Amino acid sequence: MRFSHGIFTNWTAILVLQLFMMDIALSVGKQASGNQSTGASTKYVTSAALTPATICTSIHGVTSKQMRFCEKYRSLMASIFEGIAIGIKECKFQFRKRRWNCTSLISKPPLYRNHAVPGTKEDAFTHAIIAAGIAHSVARALSSGNFTLPGVKSDTKNSINNGIQLAKEFLDGQDSKNQEIKLMNTHNNEVGLAIVRESLKRECRCHGASSSCSKRICWESLASFREIGMKIYEKIGCMQRVKTLKTRTRSGLRSTHLILDTQGSRKPRHRCLVNMKKSPTFCEPDRKHHIVGTAGRICNKTASQAEADSCSVLCCGRGYDTHEIVQKSKCFCQFYWCCKVRCKKCKKHFEITRCK
Ligand SMILES: *[C@@H]1O[C@H](CO)[C@@H](O)[C@H](O)[C@H]1NC(C)=O
Ligand SMILES: *[C@@H]1O[C@H](CO)[C@@H](O)[C@H](O)[C@H]1NC(C)=O
Ligand SMILES: *[C@@H]1O[C@H](CO)[C@@H](O)[C@H](O)[C@H]1NC(C)=O
Ligand SMILES: *[C@@H]1O[C@H](CO)[C@@H](O)[C@H](O)[C@H]1NC(C)=O
Repeated sequence: MRFSHGIFTNWTAILVLQLFMMDIALSVGKQASGNQSTGASTKYVTSAALTPATICTSIHGVTSKQMRFCEKYRSLMASIFEGIAIGIKECKFQFRKRRWNCTSLISKPPLYRNHAVPGTKEDAFTHAIIAAGIAHSVARALSSGNFTLPGVKSDTKNSINNGIQLAKEFLDGQDSKNQEIKLMNTHNNEVGLAIVRESLKRECRCHGASSSCSKRICWESLASFREIGMKIYEKIGCMQRVKTLKTRTRSGLRSTHLILDTQGSRKPRHRCLVNMKKSPTFCEPDRKHHIVGTAGRICNKTASQAEADSCSVLCCGRGYDTHEIVQKSKCFCQFYWCCKVRCKKCKKHFEITRCK
């Protein structure tokens, strides 16, 4: 089960892991251990090890559909993995105050972890944000001319559409043994992709004699990934609970559609994320579900109970410890001619509170 659910099926996990190991292997000469904890950074993606010539042969356990994708778009694979990384990074930012804060999405050799609990709202969000990350990253590569599709103009609008299309093709190539979860993932991927599609902005700048706007130059641009992350985060607010509709097919009874859990056979809204299961509280460690619990998390003593990072919410009623922190820094610096700077040392005291 370790590598086996969600957006990354086995092979994706193994590939990311492998890229990571290659990067470490490469950097052994320069530094003892490499910065393994920076799994969400995009550093390793541009590693020299990741050449289009070697990428498809260095992955294992790929479905044939995915292998064809890799071979068809070799030089795009770096952008795909950069996209996964920016999606994970944004997940960490958006969920930074919450009990579950995307730590189980880190790549940490020798293990790659993608362990949002399947079917939950956290799982829904991670699929949307990573799908969006892939589309955004591929669109940027296309519009910068780093990668060109034969016979296609690389303007921004085209790049976005093609980025979304390619992300979809990549994501659809995945297998999931659980058809219900697969339908849920597909829906949530599409919510993320739709938000990227809508993020195309028209920007204009005036030229000409001061403050006149005799000449206007306009262009289309892609919103920053932070803006996209914010919009996807908002979609948690309209999360809908779904189940699957089973229909009889030639191969037996099969889940074919998502329908709302409660209201007859209505379909979920296109623009809202969907989940199938209640989330755990995430309060206590649960190794089976890769939940680390909230003990030791820094919480905000003065925040109201409505805030996810308030001590009452984050610490789940266990209470918190207060630590005094002394920070030393240079201060009152003065410049003496020429050329010295003299500073005083200042101490700053403050308290932090950590969950018990
Ligand atoms: C590795 O991480 C440490 C601490 O975060 C940092 O000081 C150092 O510059 C990093 N090294 C590289 C090569 O990124
Ligand atoms: C996320 O949670 C982990 C595990 O509890 C913790 O170590 C980390 O500092 C948290 N991240 C943030 C940004 O608070
Ligand atoms: C394009 O390629 C260059 C050189 O490999 C790289 O520095 C740059 O980040 C790439 N741009 C995008 C948008 O991928
Ligand atoms: C704690 O919460 C209060 C109220 O929301 C806020 O003003 C303050 O900046 C927060 N402190 C930290 C360290 O985030």
